[in-house]
Amino acid sequence: MTMGGAVPADGQTGEQADRRVDRPARERARRTAEGLEYLSGFGNEHQSEAVPGALPHGRNSPQRAPLGLYAEQLSGSAFTEPRAHNRRSWLYRIRPSAAHPPFTRVDNGALRSAPFTETVPDPNRLRWNPLPAPAPGTDWLAGLWTLGGNGDVTQRTGVAVHLYHADTSMERVFSDADGELLIVPERGGLLLRTEFGVLAARPGEVALVPRGVRFRVELLDDTARGYVCENYGRPFQLPDLGPIGANGLANPRDFRAPVAAYEDIEGGVEVVNKYCGNLWAATYDHSPLDVVAWHGNHVPYVYDLRAFNVIGTISYDHPDPSIFTVLTSPSDTPGLAGVDFVVFAPRWLVGEDTFRPPYFHRNVMSEYMGLIEGAYDAKAEGFVPGGGSLHTMMSAHGPDRETFDRASAAELAPQRIDDGLAFMFETRWPLTTTAQAAGADHLQRGYDDVWQGLERHFRA
Ligand SMILES: [Fe+2]
Repeated sequence: MTMGGAVPADGQTGEQADRRVDRPARERARRTAEGLEYLSGFGNEHQSEAVPGALPHGRNSPQRAPLGLYAEQLSGSAFTEPRAHNRRSWLYRIRPSAAHPPFTRVDNGALRSAPFTETVPDPNRLRWNPLPAPAPGTDWLAGLWTLGGNGDVTQRTGVAVHLYHADTSMERVFSDADGELLIVPERGGLLLRTEFGVLAARPGEVALVPRGVRFRVELLDDTARGYVCENYGRPFQLPDLGPIGANGLANPRDFRAPVAAYEDIEGGVEVVNKYCGNLWAATYDHSPLDVVAWHGNHVPYVYDLRAFNVIGTISYDHPDPSIFTVLTSPSDTPGLAGVDFVVFAPRWLVGEDTFRPPYFHRNVMSEYMGLIEGAYDAKAEGFVPGGGSLHTMMSAHGPDRETFDRASAAELAPQRIDDGLAFMFETRWPLTTTAQAAGADHLQRGYDDVWQGLERHFRA
């Protein structure tokens, strides 16, 4: 195996069997993660070459591409979409992607896709504990477990919410034709070897793999656990800032794209493709992670949520949680997101005469929340790292009794919230659970009890 670009020589032999030995594989992945370099910026026209001279200049598709490479365009948008929304990259690779045998269906495991019709849509508030430990030998792809979603993969609308648990690095390569994957690690770091190069994402960071980009997930720790938003709709973009101004929330320069790095593997590599809700696999005679150079804006990236510039009130009340939007997938209706990715990051609360935790709420949008670490300021207990809650369209939610009582009586000095990192996938359509989520042993029974005992205080 040859690794190009900024990936340090790591002693890999290129024999897939080598990766099955967990301990040395972890060690190699960690060493690779430590040496990574990145390109800075969101939505940029990046370019990178792992071998000098691999990137053609002056044209995308010369008669003969440099170094005997094949030129190939990867289109993440229609050719004719407006320039601001147009996504494509040019890849210069050892073999064209077209060189593969037929795909055949393989088992979907616990992965499900829209439309979600296994259960009757449930108006109840639901909450889950973390996934149980995976069966030994579970890689990231096999460890994907779908909680629910909305929309339709064939219409490129909606989302799926997945959780994952794994204890083994992938040997195979995966790509998702159905949508982009926003990966939110909660436990254990991930090394993503992609067509564009290598990225690392640890808890507190998120990684995005665009639609159709092939990648392999290797583990940096003994186990890995986290969340995935599979976005069938328009690609995530940074939200407009309006009166906030030119800076703030997630700043573009904090997004990191990989530098080109390639594998030169001759021999069988299993490639799994998710297409219209099902998994299909083929054994290639080479690694498809063989891109020596690339340029474009349809690229994977990572982002450290601790870099988020949190904006809130300096007078009274607090803004709606849309103020915490990291990324948004717009719909055809201005301001109405297919899905927003929102983070509740460490921040100061200073509102005067203000009930400071998130308010009681009913929402036309549906809210799935997860917790990466610590505690969330609206729930005193029961909402734990790796778990999640679903408050679907118009379901009533808000602080639990303990939180309400505490916050209503608190002396309102400036208060630092710094013991938790929670996030939300907020989507425009009702979110319907899968049968496995509705019947899971780790579904908390009695979640409604959280709001029991909220006493009557009314005095006429
Ligand atoms: Fe809400």
